[in-house]
Amino acid sequence: MIPISWKSLLSMTVLPNIVLAYTWPNPQLDELESQRYDRHGYNSRALSAGVSPCKNFLFGDTAGRANAADWIRTAYHDMATHNIVDGTGGLDASIRFEEDRAENAGDGFHLTLLVLTGESNRYASLADVLALGAITAIEQCGGPKISFRGGRVDATVANNPGVPEPQQDLASHIAAFTRQGFTKSEMIGLVACGHTFGGVQHDPFPNIVPESNDPNNTSGNVRFDSTFVTFDNKIATEFLDGTTGNPLVVGPEETNSDKRIFASDGNVTMSSFADAAVFASTCADLFARMLDTVPRGVQLSEVIEPLPVKPQGVYLLLLEDGSIQLNGEVRFWNTSENPNRKIQIKWKDRNGNPCDGCSKAIGHTIDQVSTFVANNEETTSVWYSFNQSATEFVTFDQHSSISKFWFEVDEGSGAQVADQNGASFEIQDVVMLADSSCRITSNLTLDIAIRKDVIPSRVYLKADDFANLAPFMRTIDVPPPASTSGGDSYNIWSISDTSLNRGWTIAVDVGDKTYETAYLQHHVFGTCS
Ligand code: HEM
Ligand SMILES: *[C@@H]1O[C@H](CO)[C@@H](O)[C@H](O)[C@H]1NC(C)=O
Ligand SMILES: *[C@@H]1O[C@H](CO)[C@@H](O)[C@H](O)[C@H]1NC(C)=O
Ligand SMILES: *[C@@H]1O[C@H](CO)[C@@H](O)[C@H](O)[C@H]1NC(C)=O
Ligand SMILES: *[C@@H]1O[C@H](CO)[C@@H](O)[C@H](O)[C@H]1NC(C)=O
Ligand SMILES: *[C@@H]1O[C@H](CO)[C@@H](O)[C@H](O)[C@H]1NC(C)=O
Ligand SMILES: *[C@@H]1O[C@H](CO)[C@@H](O)[C@H](O)[C@H]1NC(C)=O
Repeated sequence: MIPISWKSLLSMTVLPNIVLAYTWPNPQLDELESQRYDRHGYNSRALSAGVSPCKNFLFGDTAGRANAADWIRTAYHDMATHNIVDGTGGLDASIRFEEDRAENAGDGFHLTLLVLTGESNRYASLADVLALGAITAIEQCGGPKISFRGGRVDATVANNPGVPEPQQDLASHIAAFTRQGFTKSEMIGLVACGHTFGGVQHDPFPNIVPESNDPNNTSGNVRFDSTFVTFDNKIATEFLDGTTGNPLVVGPEETNSDKRIFASDGNVTMSSFADAAVFASTCADLFARMLDTVPRGVQLSEVIEPLPVKPQGVYLLLLEDGSIQLNGEVRFWNTSENPNRKIQIKWKDRNGNPCDGCSKAIGHTIDQVSTFVANNEETTSVWYSFNQSATEFVTFDQHSSISKFWFEVDEGSGAQVADQNGASFEIQDVVMLADSSCRITSNLTLDIAIRKDVIPSRVYLKADDFANLAPFMRTIDVPPPASTSGGDSYNIWSISDTSLNRGWTIAVDVGDKTYETAYLQHHVFGTCS
């Protein structure tokens, strides 16, 4: 068949070329992008709820503490072991092996891990989630947008100690920050940026703050500034005008580390923070550098920006009538609902050729939600589904199948193409779930359709799990089928498993390539008969 330049046949405009942070599908960056940006409403991820409202404390309303402050402090303490000379330490979730050190006094790290570990998985390391937890807290509680890169690697052992403590002198603090990679004025900035949240509690620091009899403040938390869960420059202005109650400024002289640090350049840096915009932009930069401080050899991604058009949870299903169904949803970023909007999903067949009738309207709006908040601004997204339970399915013949899809969006003034600047959205059809799959409570029977024209060297499930509070992946081999079925194009392999209670995928090794489904845990299984 002569390849048709299909675009030349069409007179429609293409959405303005946007420099994409990455091209979908990229399972790791797709997952991190969702955790980073899908904060509210439909498909929202859990981090945001942990700091909504900002004074939220998941371990008791009356403690006088906040998750937001613990998450930010945890990210700093985890990073603070970094040694810029030998490249060891940095944001690598080693804090989980370092909790009993005096420099990590308090239970804030443990409580943070209890919450944030649950958001980590094979694509989002615990260290990435610690970074995202801090970013979510800062951004949602009045702070500026913080650049986020992904790809942190979880340490398997503790790092060398090295978190600064309040009773140490200024020279040790300057030395500690130099070792971490920060100058003296950056040290002043980073401490002020961190200490605009939270305070000091009695239990871990009995010599700094007194015991509290207040039933609404059982931890005796004495705040660093008068707005303890809000990102603002009061940490600086209250210091400068002498009204500060910061226990590391007006506490016992020996532990007045903030006082020594803040004044260490003759108040030049702190005075510059009297300008709220300077404070916000300085903190945005320093927080990003703090979170990107990783052990040498760890390669971080580009800064992850939201994809303007992002498919989510896309998977193929081989139906009993032999056709293939495309399931999924699509998010339009920073877009409002428009009742006149018309969306077509279009696709090319298995061989990359355009096909007759490979087009379907997907008019079903799921939700319009505000997804992301920074600089006290919200951004709205709108979601559409072409999933299992939508009334109109996107289906095609198993012989022609699919290789890539894209969208055409008409807001009422002509169709525009959303195809990742020409790349389209690629999807593999080598392995997929068959509709005959079923469950009896947690016992899943998976019927796995594998294309007949490939010779798999291994078929296996990849299942997410946890060990030592961090994510890891198990594999479960699928035995070859006794007989073949599934139509002309597919064989069905089968396995039952009761342990797939977190994220899981089906993978097929063919030569040196691995074909893998998206996470399938949202598939609605029928009950086995
Ligand atoms: C010389 C450097 C630093 C010293 C000596 C220091 C000391 C302290 C102390 C003693 C506490 C009280 C902890 C508790 O009672 O649970 C604290 C809390 C906190 N620190 Fe620092 N800190 C330093 C730097 C930083 C930096 C660079 C950040 C972040 C960028 C940060 C973020 C926080 C936060 C958010 C809290 C509040 C925790 C809560 O309220 O639960 N600190 N810090
Ligand atoms: C504690 O907080 C609750 C709810 O905000 C309030 O009703 C109560 O009066 C407070 N108790 C004290 C002793 O301040
Ligand atoms: C909590 O208790 C401490 C110690 O009694 C007190 O100094 C601090 O001001 C209290 N914090 C709040 C927010 O009430
Ligand atoms: C810095 O500011 C504090 C608070 O106003 C003040 O007590 C201190 O003397 C100042 N230090 C210098 C070197 O100006
Ligand atoms: C959202 O879109 C509007 C209009 O195109 C643009 O001005 C704004 O900067 C966008 N906001 C974000 C956060 O991308
Ligand atoms: C499918 O779409 C419907 C509505 O469009 C939604 O309620 C449901 O949660 C979606 N299911 C999955 C598995 O995505
Ligand atoms: C799970 O279901 C399969 C198929 O019905 C059955 O053969 C297997 O024994 C079940 N496993 C468990 C642990 O119940």
